[in-house]
Amino acid sequence: MNLEALSVLNATVSERVDLAAGLFILRIVPDEGVADFLPGQSLQLGCITADGLLTRPYSIASSPLERRYVEFYVSSVRGGSLSPYLMRVGVGDRIHVSAQASGTFTLASVPPDAGIILIGSGTGLGPFMSMVRTPFCLEGRPRLCVLHGVRHRADLGYHDELVALASRNSHFHYLAAVSRDALDFADPAVQGRRLEDLIAHSACAPDPAADHVFLCGNPQMIDHLAGVLTERGFRAPHNLSFEKYW
Ligand SMILES: Cc1cc2nc3c(=O)[nH]c(=O)nc-3n(C[C@H](O)[C@H](O)[C@H](O)COP(=O)(O)OP(=O)(O)OC[C@H]3O[C@@H](n4cnc5c(N)ncnc54)[C@H](O)[C@@H]3O)c2cc1C
Ligand SMILES: NC(=O)c1ccc[n+]([C@@H]2O[C@H](COP(=O)([O-])OP(=O)(O)OC[C@H]3O[C@@H](n4cnc5c(N)ncnc54)[C@H](OP(=O)(O)O)[C@@H]3O)[C@@H](O)[C@H]2O)c1
Repeated sequence: MNLEALSVLNATVSERVDLAAGLFILRIVPDEGVADFLPGQSLQLGCITADGLLTRPYSIASSPLERRYVEFYVSSVRGGSLSPYLMRVGVGDRIHVSAQASGTFTLASVPPDAGIILIGSGTGLGPFMSMVRTPFCLEGRPRLCVLHGVRHRADLGYHDELVALASRNSHFHYLAAVSRDALDFADPAVQGRRLEDLIAHSACAPDPAADHVFLCGNPQMIDHLAGVLTERGFRAPHNLSFEKYW
């Protein structure tokens, strides 16, 4: 790698947690420190490939109050260009990160007294982790629900942290759907096979008069649930926001 290529690598991987094959959490330390951002925003991550620097956007999963590192929740897409490179990075490796976070998928325009319903498929949970890890996002909300849909039980990233948050906050609810494994009835968080099952659950049923719903991840999931929610009276961007990952 030549010096010019090395100079775009401006962060160091400080931690990596593998959750399932091809699914991992990365923490990086930018050389210039952690820049300010809003929960829900994303940064570009990049690696040097045979064609030079290749970047893609990744939602920040850590809180802006965490100043030691920035965290990302990543899956490796088979046949993808960048994610297989990210799949191979380890602690101490150098990586590219953009200087400024971007995106409007935040709580900024949501009224402070609205309930918040966060619905993510796969790594679409990432931006919601940033929100729920940031106390000012939780305070004053009548309720806050995290609904996570995954293929396999092992893909339920952040499960223990979300269960613990729910046990400490009576207005916080966490429900999970597992579509391709036998349902684990011993786990009270796993409440169905599909995200549609979870929005039927009384604790998290979305109410267009009281709640703002955020959808993140798989674009087919977003189109499908946005259709269901529109039929129930939700309207984007008034009380419905979404972030399609591809
Ligand atoms: C705002 C934003 C935030 C994002 N945040 C995250 C994040 O936090 N974590 C994360 O893992 N990804 C995230 N993504 C997706 C990420 O940017 C890349 O698209 C993804 O990692 C695949 O990149 P790639 O270069 O390997 O594949 P590409 O070469 O870009 O794409 C290969 C093919 O895979 C499809 N594809 C792209 N992403 C996915 C996917 N996740 N699952 C299935 N098919 C896909 C594309 O349509 C394309 O046909 C985000 C995308 C956006 C737009
Ligand atoms: N462990 C991992 O998560 C992992 C590991 C390695 C690679 N990857 C790659 O990452 C990419 C994304 O995979 P993913 O499993 O994270 O996410 P995903 O394919 O978006 O699946 C996540 C959940 O969303 C559901 N879903 C899909 N379309 C939907 C729709 N229209 N309406 C409602 N629910 C819908 C899926 O159900 P269905 O079961 O019905 O699809 C699944 O339960 C894939 O390319 C995958 O190969 C993921």
